[in-house]
Amino acid sequence: MELHDFLKVIRTRWATVLATTLVTALAAVAYSLLQTPLYEASTRLFVSTVGGTSASELYSGNRLSQERVLSYAQLLMGETLAQRTIDRLNLDMDARTLSEAITAKAKPDTVLIDVSVLDTSPVRARDIANALSEELVVMVRELETPAQGAAPDARVVVEQRATVPPEPEVPKKKRNLAVGILLGGILGAGLAILRDILDNTVKDRVQLEKVTGSGVVGVVPYDKGRRENPAIVFESDNSPTAESFRKLRTNLQFLSVDSPPRLIVITSSVPNESKSTTAINIALALAEADHNVLLIDGDMRRPSLARYLDMVGSVGLSTVLSGSASLDDATQESKFPRLKVLASGPTPPNPSELLGSRAAKKVLDELRDRYDYVIIDTSPLLAVTDGAILAAESDGAILLVRAGDTKRDQIAHSIGILNDVGATILGSVLSMVPNKRSGPYSYDYYGRTYGDRLPADALDRRATDPSR
Ligand SMILES: Nc1ncnc2c1ncn2[C@@H]1O[C@H](COP(=O)(O)OP(=O)(O)O)[C@@H](O)[C@H]1O
Ligand SMILES: [Mg+2]
Repeated sequence: MELHDFLKVIRTRWATVLATTLVTALAAVAYSLLQTPLYEASTRLFVSTVGGTSASELYSGNRLSQERVLSYAQLLMGETLAQRTIDRLNLDMDARTLSEAITAKAKPDTVLIDVSVLDTSPVRARDIANALSEELVVMVRELETPAQGAAPDARVVVEQRATVPPEPEVPKKKRNLAVGILLGGILGAGLAILRDILDNTVKDRVQLEKVTGSGVVGVVPYDKGRRENPAIVFESDNSPTAESFRKLRTNLQFLSVDSPPRLIVITSSVPNESKSTTAINIALALAEADHNVLLIDGDMRRPSLARYLDMVGSVGLSTVLSGSASLDDATQESKFPRLKVLASGPTPPNPSELLGSRAAKKVLDELRDRYDYVIIDTSPLLAVTDGAILAAESDGAILLVRAGDTKRDQIAHSIGILNDVGATILGSVLSMVPNKRSGPYSYDYYGRTYGDRLPADALDRRATDPSR
């Protein structure tokens, strides 16, 4: 993964990174709050040896002090001195516990020892540090005094006494928070990358082309307005969504210049991929270009065209196929010029059978003669066979894929279904593409839709495929 890809993942999955960072930062704060505050009091000790007066004696005296400093540091952290300190201060703890709270560090190349004591009480921390230091002074005097009562070879002076620490040393709130945020950031980035690797949905047209193995004939942006008003008023609308449907119309007409597909099925893998909305707007875009268009609701199980277009849904395709109404009676005028609509009619008990019947084939053939274009909305392919049956009877199917939602294996499965029934796949449409960062005129949306490379590809395939 290159830096560029990494940044892209972080930018698109910033919420993951942010949430993880927040959680670890909160954990760090909680950790700080739960810790018992510990105060640290420090003293500094100076070690000197009784040396001679000559330079060499002074030098060796100094060396001796430096060596002693290391030993004294060990003594300070030992249990003997701890016990003496406990006795002196009448503390209610054992020597081992106290010795663990003591740190003594010999400063390299000096004769100084820094002693620090951690305790839950600031005053007691100070007292222990001072008492301990004084006990070392006494102990050194005992240890270093030769037997005959001569002057001791070395002695320790408390150079700096401890004071009451104003702030606790533990918890280190700021440091804990900083570590929490840093770890959260790293963890969040890792999670974001993991999610990206595990994410097998399709998000752009290049991925979609790869999965379907056919051209992408349209890219439709996510457009909130379509939820309220599925139908675009093409006469007055020049929004990016309207433009995307005009491009889609152009691409469809280019697909096969001599005999463009006219009976077109709109389908997809699963519900909510914008099939019905797209069917309406492809039909309207074609009507805008002076074609007579019939829009059919072939989704008898979850019909929505009548509802989306404020029309009557009780009479339609199922009524015609069952012979209860004539085509002319069931077809409704829409409020849009050149667009007629055949709703689904009541849901029959056997939609697949009805759609696969000879009557259905006859009706579709008749409609192909009557209109310039017939656009059929269908049920999702992975749910029922209705869509595949209609696709097989049509001039070609358009497979809708919802950006960032439909999974690769679902798409591959749908393509397999369409191929199995011998349907022509005109191409796919990437729907509901989020338009967060890329503006409406970004390259992603339209840059490549202008070219005729993809439709020409599709054409080639149709021409060379012997099953057509
Ligand atoms: N381009 C779009 N932008 C935003 N919402 C959309 C878009 N297309 C469809 N929708 C909404 O998504 C939902 C499903 O759309 P619909 O066309 O009914 O899908 P399907 O027929 O595949 O089940 C509906 O609420 C619809 O309003
Ligand atoms: Mg639908």
